[in-house]
Amino acid sequence: MVERLTETVVPVGRRSILALKEWTPSEIRGILTTAAWMKANPKVAHVRYALAGKSVGMIFELPSTRTRVSFQVAIQSLGASPVILDWGESQLGRGEPIADTARVMSRYVDGIVIRCRSHQTVQEFARWASVPIFNALTDQAHPFQALADALTLWERQKRLSGLKFAYLGDGSNNMALSYLTIGAKLGMQVTIATAKGYWPAAEVIDWAREEALVTGGSITITDDPEQAVFGVDAVATDVFVSMGEPGDPAVKQRDLMPYQVNGKLMALSKPEAVFLHCLPAHRGEEVTDEVIEGPHSAVWDQAENRLYVQKAALLQTLGD
Ligand code: CP
Repeated sequence: MVERLTETVVPVGRRSILALKEWTPSEIRGILTTAAWMKANPKVAHVRYALAGKSVGMIFELPSTRTRVSFQVAIQSLGASPVILDWGESQLGRGEPIADTARVMSRYVDGIVIRCRSHQTVQEFARWASVPIFNALTDQAHPFQALADALTLWERQKRLSGLKFAYLGDGSNNMALSYLTIGAKLGMQVTIATAKGYWPAAEVIDWAREEALVTGGSITITDDPEQAVFGVDAVATDVFVSMGEPGDPAVKQRDLMPYQVNGKLMALSKPEAVFLHCLPAHRGEEVTDEVIEGPHSAVWDQAENRLYVQKAALLQTLGD
């Protein structure tokens, strides 16, 4: 039986999406419900023109392929115009304060998609902007990737509540933290397997455990990769070294190699388990070719679903 994501899609009004922590389980389920409906009904007229006459700014401090293209297509397919601003080619790159940029851009556009190295930069942007801000990745959160991954899991496994989900790799990066958040919000049984020194911060674990108590989920942190993947419905990983991360990448890669998702490890999960990777992937490091190209892999569906969750979120927060 397919789990019903939500009974009703609750109106959310003009809201920013900086991290899913700030969203209730029913609001998150509402975005997923709308996204699934949009995917099934791509040509419905009131969706195609829902944001007609509006403009959405897009600011990228870091490189992107999926996020940039999928947001631009999502904005256009709702009838709005994307306005793309490269950080280095704007006055931001010459040091104009975030507070000034956010206030000025708010006079031109109806919402702003922003990818930054530091989560504090996006928070600062949201503090000064008078239009919704959409976090397109920071060092602490990648909310639209987490939403796309939840939609992919729901499509493949027909449920999210109680789903056994293991993430292997850097337990303190944006994807690990986003999986802890969305997993706790949606009642999933989340296990993070990582080396000592790469665990999520204690307050994040405590927050996720408290949230999971309410939703019927659970949060486990372990340094044992085999125990983490045993009998799970889904296995996820991410690059060992994130974009622009300081420190010696060779040390981190060495520390995290025991958490590589390879065929031997994947075989410990359920036969119908799904493998997730937000991409880009480094084959031979966090994942082997046989897994990412193998029968468990749902990575192309994940990438596609970015489009639908972003369309859904834009519609719900910027639509009239
Ligand atoms: N997954 C993801 O955010 O991809 P990009 O860095 O290509 O946007």
